[in-house]
Amino acid sequence: MTAPDRYAVFGQPINHSKSPRIHALFAAQTGQNLSYTAQEVGPAEFDQTVTDFFAAGGKGLNCTVPLKELAFRLADRLTPRAQRAKAVNTLWRDAEHGLSGDNTDGLGLIADLTVNHGLALGGQRLLLLGAGGASRGVIAPLLEHQPAQLLIANRTVDKAAAIAAEFADLGAIAACGYPDLTGRQFDLIINATSASLGQKLPPLPSGLLAAGGACYDMAYAKLATPFVTWGQAQAARLSLDGIGMLVEQAAAAFEIWRGVRPDSRAVIALLNQERGGAAS
Ligand code: ATR
Repeated sequence: MTAPDRYAVFGQPINHSKSPRIHALFAAQTGQNLSYTAQEVGPAEFDQTVTDFFAAGGKGLNCTVPLKELAFRLADRLTPRAQRAKAVNTLWRDAEHGLSGDNTDGLGLIADLTVNHGLALGGQRLLLLGAGGASRGVIAPLLEHQPAQLLIANRTVDKAAAIAAEFADLGAIAACGYPDLTGRQFDLIINATSASLGQKLPPLPSGLLAAGGACYDMAYAKLATPFVTWGQAQAARLSLDGIGMLVEQAAAAFEIWRGVRPDSRAVIALLNQERGGAAS
C-alpha cells in the first residue's frame, strides 16, 4: 500500500483539537488514504513550518487561532471569500498556482445553521457578538443571505464600526456597543467572541432574543458554553454550540483537498453522541 497523503492542522493551543478525529472519520467514510495530525505552531515559526511541511511532501493544512491572518498573508493565491475575510483556514499547493488559501469557516457556519438546523437567515434580524477574526470570516456569507439586519456588537465599539464599514457594500450592516443593545430584539444571536473560551459571557441584556429566536455559539466545549446556557435561559428555540460548524468547515476543506464530499452529518451525530447528547 502506498504511503498516506499527509495533512495537518497548525495552531496554538492545539492539544484539544478535534480536527484529526474528524478528518480520520471522513477518510474512513470515503476510502481516502491520508493521515491528519495536529501540530502546535506559534506565529513566530509559522512561515517556516508551512514551507517545510509542503517541501517534505505535505498535501494540505488547516490553520486555526492565532494563525489565520498569517496564512492569508503567506498564500500566493486566494479564493474570493478568503480575500474578503482577510483570513485563511485551508492551504494546499499545486505546481501551477503555488500555495493556495481558502476560508471555509463562513460556509461551515451557514451549512450548520441553514441545512443542519433549518434556520432561515433571509429577512431575519441577526446580532453578531465580537469583532475579531472569527467574526470577519462569517460576515460576508451571512450578508449573502440578505438578513433584514446584521448588527455587530463589540466591547471595543471602534473595532465593530471598522468591520461594519468594511462590509457595508454587501448589505444592511451596523455596529454598536453592548449597552446600546438594551431594548432591541433579534431572531438569531451568534457569539463570535472568544469569551466562551474563558468561561465568560458578553454583557447581554435580557429580552434581547425575540420569541422563537435562536442562539449559536461559534465556540464548542464538552459541556454547554456560558452562551449556550444563556440562550437556554432566554427560552431560545435552539441554543447551539459550534461543533456542527467545526465539522462543516472541515468537510469543505476535505472536499477542496480530495475532491470528495464526506457525510458531515454522520460525523456531527457521532461527536455529539460521544459527548453525551447535543447542546440544543
Ligand atoms: P478571534 O480571532 O477568536 O475572533 P480576537 O481577534 O482576539 O479573536 O477577537 C476576540 C473577540 O472576542 C473580540 O471581539 C473581543 O472583544 P474586544 O475587541 O472588545 O476585545 C471579544 N471578547 C473576548 N473576551 C470577551 C468578553 N469577556 N466579553 C465580551 N467580548 C469579549
